[in-house]
Amino acid sequence: MSEQTAPAHKLAVIGYGTQGVYHTRNLRALDDVAIDVVGIYDTDPRANEDAEADGLHVYASAEEVLADEAIDIVFICTPNDSHHDYAVSALRAGKHVLCEKPAMMNAAEMREVAAVAEETGKLFMVHQNRRWDPDFNVIKKIYDEQLIGAPTYLEQRIHGSRGIPGDWRQLPEHGGGMILDWGVHTVDRLLTMVDSPVVDVYGELSFALGHEVDDGFRAHLTFADGFRAMVDVSTTSFLPEAKFWMQSATGTVVIEDWEMNGRMVRRTGAEEDDATPVQAGVGLTKTMAPRILDYKALASTTPPVEVLPLPEVDVDVMDFYRNARDVVDGVAEPVITNESVIRCLTVLEAIVESSRTHEVIHPEQA
Ligand SMILES: NC(=O)c1ccc[n+]([C@@H]2O[C@H](COP(=O)([O-])OP(=O)(O)OC[C@H]3O[C@@H](n4cnc5c(N)ncnc54)[C@H](O)[C@@H]3O)[C@@H](O)[C@H]2O)c1
Repeated sequence: MSEQTAPAHKLAVIGYGTQGVYHTRNLRALDDVAIDVVGIYDTDPRANEDAEADGLHVYASAEEVLADEAIDIVFICTPNDSHHDYAVSALRAGKHVLCEKPAMMNAAEMREVAAVAEETGKLFMVHQNRRWDPDFNVIKKIYDEQLIGAPTYLEQRIHGSRGIPGDWRQLPEHGGGMILDWGVHTVDRLLTMVDSPVVDVYGELSFALGHEVDDGFRAHLTFADGFRAMVDVSTTSFLPEAKFWMQSATGTVVIEDWEMNGRMVRRTGAEEDDATPVQAGVGLTKTMAPRILDYKALASTTPPVEVLPLPEVDVDVMDFYRNARDVVDGVAEPVITNESVIRCLTVLEAIVESSRTHEVIHPEQA
């Protein structure tokens, strides 16, 4: 274990539910971060009992947290509708603020908070943790390094079958629904990867479960550089489809599941002049003649095509906390910028607007 120094920063959590507890445990486990979680504020007495059992100070009010001069960082882990007001008052009280996603209920709120952070000179950073997911980082590496050639199209899916959890997530006034829950991850990752404006958006929200909020959505995005993507979030999919599928003119990659089953297939040389017709289903085809006869064994039977395992990536989501510490210490820039969060919320609003109007929306200029 590394040599311990006294914690340089003291953090209070607002909202000691699933994520408040998660961040507290992570920060306590990280030897190299030196952010000490000292207390919490939560409106639920049961959460306060949990916090006391975990050895944390329980504040009587959010105002009491913000008045505590020992606290220099606040982590907002409450339902989505309360993020804005807590963020503004914490920044104005001189605290650095970390905040759960979705940062805000809409892009306008996020612009306001970003401006207050700028004005006060304090950090406001959103926990966009799924930028560190291994599957996304494998896709990003294949995209960046053109390991299947120049990618033209990507499908990204998050599929579950348990509906929306029966808490605040089903209620519009708390910012429930999948656009704000998983849209902020899936679309955010796409915008992080593709360095080009989003010129066209077509969206369809799902209300299959009869809630007031969307239980999923499908969106088609076209970027100014011509790259296209489909994002599909479903809570009613009992047979999840591939999480990522990306193609170029010379290759395809698939990541099937959270366990990172998947493969790349790519052409290694010039295409054969003409394929031989083969029996496929009840007919003959040249165009759709299968190339790979044994995917599981990663075996190709029809050169010039090769099947490869997914490349390795080395990513650590704990770098979120390390970066936060470095930013408040003045030695790094935020790894998650407020501009990127505003951009993501703007594109999500375009998806909702498109679903309402059945029209293509143009959130950004080429
Ligand atoms: N980044 C991720 O992977 C991830 C995962 C889950 C949730 N989240 C986000 O974290 C936030 C919290 O989600 P959760 O799953 O922890 O919810 P949760 O319901 O488990 O916990 C929320 C806590 O906040 C408390 N609370 C509610 N309103 C409050 C208020 N006005 N002031 C103080 N406390 C209040 C509740 O009593 C509860 O203890 C949400 O914004 C959610 O979208 C992020």
